[in-house]
Amino acid sequence: MRFLALSGSLRASSTNTALLRAFASEAPTGFAVEVFDAMGDLPPFSPDREADTPDSVLRLAEAVAACDGILIACPEYAHGIPGAFKNALDWLVSRFEIPGKPVMLVHASTRGEHVRAQLREVLSTMSCDLFPGPDFETHLIGRTQANATDILARADMRAEMRAKLDEFARFAARQRQG
Ligand SMILES: Cc1cc2nc3c(=O)[nH]c(=O)nc-3n(C[C@H](O)[C@H](O)[C@H](O)COP(=O)(O)O)c2cc1C
Repeated sequence: MRFLALSGSLRASSTNTALLRAFASEAPTGFAVEVFDAMGDLPPFSPDREADTPDSVLRLAEAVAACDGILIACPEYAHGIPGAFKNALDWLVSRFEIPGKPVMLVHASTRGEHVRAQLREVLSTMSCDLFPGPDFETHLIGRTQANATDILARADMRAEMRAKLDEFARFAARQRQG
């Protein structure tokens, strides 16, 4: 199974991106988690540009098409979804790749109830198949990326991430079988 990991933060030392990289390094044999590394390259969405879709958007769309499920880790900005991440979702709204795709939210913060609710609303409107939870969460706010990576490398955290990936894989396999 191949999972795609999308970070909602463009920050170089993002704890959300660190969390997704930690999930990638915990992928058991037979699983792969690819962290999409070009979210910052996507231009502002306009329906006028969909006829001549930019290459960076096509890369994202192809990565979505090729995966069996998507992991999203997204910070909360002003009680909402960060603009750059919502922009990425807007590029995918009218395309064929995302509907029906299993999606699991994971959180680098124990706060952020607004962004969690908004992501669920937006992703279900986009016909994604949302993992019913409970969500994986850990509190990394204010940590440097190196510090966050050390915390995520602890045996207890790694076991929790592996268990969550297993749960998500079972969910994605069930959805695929219909
Ligand atoms: C512009 C901005 C607005 C924020 N607004 C909120 C907020 O409304 N609620 C909240 O819990 N955290 C808020 N935060 C804190 C971030 O969600 C938090 O620092 C997050 O862990 C950063 O993720 P990152 O390390 O992946 O970049 C805000 C941070 C920024 C930069």
